[in-house]
Amino acid sequence: MPVTLRSAVFNDVPPILAVERQAPGAAHWTEEQYGKLLGSGVVVVAEQAGQICGFVCAQVVAGEWEIENLAVAPAFRRRGVGGELLRELSRRAENEAAPAILLEVRESNRPARQLYEKHGFREESYRRAYYREPVEDAILYALRFDR
Ligand SMILES: CC(C)(COP(=O)(O)OP(=O)(O)OC[C@H]1O[C@@H](n2cnc3c(N)ncnc32)[C@H](O)[C@@H]1OP(=O)(O)O)[C@@H](O)C(=O)NCCC(=O)NCCS
Repeated sequence: MPVTLRSAVFNDVPPILAVERQAPGAAHWTEEQYGKLLGSGVVVVAEQAGQICGFVCAQVVAGEWEIENLAVAPAFRRRGVGGELLRELSRRAENEAAPAILLEVRESNRPARQLYEKHGFREESYRRAYYREPVEDAILYALRFDR
């Protein structure tokens, strides 16, 4: 069955939280924080047979897009859903003439780093001991659009 992508609506927040809770590598937010981002940022969900199986969310700050969170439910991983979400976000950012999409990721998060690199993101710098519990460096990636 195909996976479809669409912009999230307020009723999607509980299933988004359910996916996020199954992803220790994702950022962890409250329902209110997702609600706010729906108003101020970009939230795209992946859905199969009416069930949300993944999402990506981004903030747009001074025209630059920053990925705040990305997760796919465990049963749907390694089937291209994460890649589809990134492609959709890139398409939207390019349509809005964004110069780049930026993100931070834990140094040890190999699956996410491989995914970003596969989709053209390049490692640009790092932030020492940026994360807590456990303390870890953040690697900063960017996908820069040539214009
Ligand atoms: C990272 C994540 C979103 C990837 O989603 P996904 O739907 O499985 O990704 P895809 O199927 O599109 O994978 C595309 C590529 O990413 C890389 N990748 C994905 N999972 C991987 C894994 N477990 N190990 C190594 N590489 C992996 C591979 O290069 C893969 O291509 P391939 O299958 O042809 O080898 C998913 O593992 C997840 O939800 N992780 C927990 C949350 C998280 O860490 N989010 C990132 C926050 S910055």
